[in-house]
Amino acid sequence: MASAPRIARAIPALEAIAQFSSDVVVGLSQPGQKELPSKYLYDEVGSALFDVICVLPEYGLSRAGMRLLERHAADIVERMPGPVVVAELGSGSGQKTRWLLEALARRQRVNYYPIDISSSALFRCQLELSHIDLVSIVGFESAYLDGLREVAARRREGEQLLVLFLGSTIGNFDRPAGDQFLREVRSTLCEGDALLLATDLEKPVPALTLAYDDSAGVTAAFNKNLLARINRELDGDFDLTKFDHVARYDESERRVEMHLRSKVWQRITIRKAGFRFYLREGETIWTESSHKYDPQEVIQMGERAGYRCAGQWIDGEWPFAQTLFFAG
Ligand SMILES: C[S@@+](CC[C@H](N)C(=O)[O-])C[C@H]1O[C@@H](n2cnc3c(N)ncnc32)[C@H](O)[C@@H]1O
Repeated sequence: MASAPRIARAIPALEAIAQFSSDVVVGLSQPGQKELPSKYLYDEVGSALFDVICVLPEYGLSRAGMRLLERHAADIVERMPGPVVVAELGSGSGQKTRWLLEALARRQRVNYYPIDISSSALFRCQLELSHIDLVSIVGFESAYLDGLREVAARRREGEQLLVLFLGSTIGNFDRPAGDQFLREVRSTLCEGDALLLATDLEKPVPALTLAYDDSAGVTAAFNKNLLARINRELDGDFDLTKFDHVARYDESERRVEMHLRSKVWQRITIRKAGFRFYLREGETIWTESSHKYDPQEVIQMGERAGYRCAGQWIDGEWPFAQTLFFAG
């Protein structure tokens, strides 16, 4: 029987709001390009909108990642012979993870630890996966590495840790920060532990930009919700009708950037942060980057961070890779 879902730890609300306020002020005080950290896109509304994005026809990433896991989950878990404990970084609602958990549960009891800063995403994840027999779930409402360190501290002698980083979320880091993040993950692992890393691959620019600017306007709503979140949580006065959602491809950085472009000159006040700032007509706030990769580049990223590649699977319909690394 599946066990009841649990959340092991929540970020204290006051601490979280103080950090949000400070990050917003720092990002919007930049002398050049103003920016907001993409992790704040995921409150309850943002996480629900992201789930809708995943089923949009334009957002091929999600279906590609899912197809690969549906086809290759058995092969992936066979490469890890020992008893395996699973941690997932930024699990979201965990839909892609089902195939891996089911494949593992055919041979062992599985402890699965989703880690996400969005409590509503964790809640959905637990609803989605808690009925799989022989899988017990403890969610960690925390930042990636804090959660991973807690999971690593819980594993028992002889257990192998499989870390999942799906959905091409690594692409939210710029390339040097992505390398550094993989090194930090590696430093919490023991030899023989594994990392399954999903990465969206380079493809024609029109398909890429449409994936982040769909015709139904869901991604636009997801992006603008960040301003609505500031209004709700920090008592801001952003008028969402005065912003356009923009998705553009930067050829030299090989990434899609999401911005919010001010339609007019405007003054914005964020009362709880004690902060006021101005936006010129046409000026943008940069909210997210999604870097795109070459398959070989992904293997090299892992090798630079102290892993060896144990397999790579690429989707034929929407170029996208799942790459399995061993720590070693
Ligand atoms: C692009 S979504 C991917 C969700 C899921 N893995 C998938 O493939 O559909 C990124 C997820 O990571 C979470 N997240 C973003 N930044 C985070 C951070 N610094 N620490 C923990 N979770 C984070 C978000 O709340 C969101 O659920």
